[in-house]
Amino acid sequence: MKLSAAVLLALVAVQAAVLLAAVPSAQAGELKVGYYGKKCKGLENIVKWHVIKALKANRRVGAALVRLIFHDCFVRGCDASVLLDASYDNPHPEKEAPVNIGLAAFDLLEEIKADVEKRCPGVVSCADLLIYAGRDAASLLSNGHVHFDVPAGRLDGYVSKADEAQAELPDSTDDVQKLIANFARKNFTVEELVILSGAHSIGQGHCSSFTGRLSEPPTQITPAYRDLLNYKCPKGYNPAVVNNVRDEDYGVVARYMPGFTSRVRKVPDFLDNSYYHNNLAKIVTFHSDWTLLTHKEALGHVHEYADNGTLWDEDFSDSLVKLSKLPMPAGSKGEIRKKCSVINHRLY
Ligand code: HEM
Repeated sequence: MKLSAAVLLALVAVQAAVLLAAVPSAQAGELKVGYYGKKCKGLENIVKWHVIKALKANRRVGAALVRLIFHDCFVRGCDASVLLDASYDNPHPEKEAPVNIGLAAFDLLEEIKADVEKRCPGVVSCADLLIYAGRDAASLLSNGHVHFDVPAGRLDGYVSKADEAQAELPDSTDDVQKLIANFARKNFTVEELVILSGAHSIGQGHCSSFTGRLSEPPTQITPAYRDLLNYKCPKGYNPAVVNNVRDEDYGVVARYMPGFTSRVRKVPDFLDNSYYHNNLAKIVTFHSDWTLLTHKEALGHVHEYADNGTLWDEDFSDSLVKLSKLPMPAGSKGEIRKKCSVINHRLY
């Protein structure tokens, strides 16, 4: 089929527009607090409004948003690569990596994006929305104890590969040395590994993420808690179980851990330093949590944060800000996506 000159010209123009829209990520290096102040008035309040509404309907969404910060930023920096759906060009995006099991809140971010696009079209990246929403969730779930200003100006990436996510993110079966090496690759210290792991005071995990724990000895997992987890994970099923036993059904706790019933909460998913108490009591879900107790420095920090909840609130806030600044790989290009789950144009 012959293309007319006009069609050819139009194609060249579209290609040029796509290339112009793809901004080098250097721009994303200049993150600023209040970045959208003039570009999209009231943006941070709009995001917060959506997050409050979503958490009122289902508090559990908050944990998913906090986890997304980690899972986006550890893979190609904070570029919303974790939000991309499978497509003809990219059949295996990060979402499909086994290590990304249970990721959620994608619909909420898409809803926020749609609202923001109506008010400020083509201005706000999904990468920034993800960080703002995660920040607001952390703040709401901690009754404001975790709070921080977060800089913005990130771009949305074009690349999202399941293999990369699998290689970059830690696994729930990892031992402490592997976790330390994993975090060190992103320039995070042992202390920051311990601080950020405290996020497991909220949310849930699938049985498959901790079935290996169910045959570990009492030195690693309290037998009563192991029995509770065994009960929650019937053979042949893979439900999600709460990370923090105080969020468990009262009746189940009464049956398996009667001494713990006074700590069961009516409102689940309160983000605080309870993870460190649970860890010392060997009632945490993942091997990767328990293994922190086997490393002298990490254990010291587990004690430190168990003893001082206010310090954890502050240090967790700082570590999330640091996480949110992880850059895209040098030389990467980015854009402002119209929808968070798809890139705007094919680049080739
Ligand atoms: C240190 C290495 C880490 C490992 C190995 C790990 C592993 C996991 C696993 C396996 C799950 C459950 C997934 C499932 O089965 O559905 C989970 C849940 C969660 N993780 Fe981590 N994680 C780590 C660090 C972090 C960090 C740094 C954060 C955030 C700062 C975080 C936040 C969360 C949250 C909030 C949940 C619950 C999510 C929900 O309920 O939707 N994790 N993590």
